[in-house]
Amino acid sequence: MEDDSKVVEYLLKVLVVGDLGVGKTSFIQRYVHNMFDREYKATIGVDFAYKLIQISSDKVVRLQLWDIAGQERYGNMTRVYYKEALGAIVVFDLSRPNTLDSVKKWKQDIDSKVRLPDANESPLPVILLANKCDLVKNSINPTQLDLFCKENGFVKWFETSAKDGTHVEDAANFLVKQILETD
Ligand code: GTP
Ligand code: MG
Repeated sequence: MEDDSKVVEYLLKVLVVGDLGVGKTSFIQRYVHNMFDREYKATIGVDFAYKLIQISSDKVVRLQLWDIAGQERYGNMTRVYYKEALGAIVVFDLSRPNTLDSVKKWKQDIDSKVRLPDANESPLPVILLANKCDLVKNSINPTQLDLFCKENGFVKWFETSAKDGTHVEDAANFLVKQILETD
């Protein structure tokens, strides 16, 4: 008989935030179901998605993605939604450069409302997604975005497309790895 009693399962709660229509739901749909929908249906409140990731023969991650509606920035529920999260993804839309302006606000919102359960109450590891890269070419200045990440406490940025899948898996895997390392 197979003995799987030594398999360790980690439950990781990860937040996905950013302005309306930047592609949070689409990113999650691509990552979890490898699907893309052109039609925009605004998320109301919060949605959930799960993905099981086999890290090694004895380590499994149950990733719980909290897809928080862009309109929640003006609501008062984020403190509740953020509870016990261990990492976060902030998304902006490369085809609408002004969505990068609110990235700082989302990051500050996270930092002010949730901390890791360690002795230092460290801020969560947060990555930045420059999404919809299929729509705009060469609009990113990597040096500038590196600096932006450094100044605002993002671990790393990724140029992604939920439409064609560019760097979707890379970004999610990087964050999971980051969370497990700081564990
Ligand atoms: P809210 O739920 O309102 O906060 O929006 P959201 O961030 O979840 O955006 P959503 O994923 O619903 O995407 C908004 C629109 O952008 C939809 O029409 C998507 O099809 C489109 N979209 C999302 N990601 C991409 C992408 O990478 N490339 C392109 N071309 N379109 C995208
Ligand atoms: Mg959505």
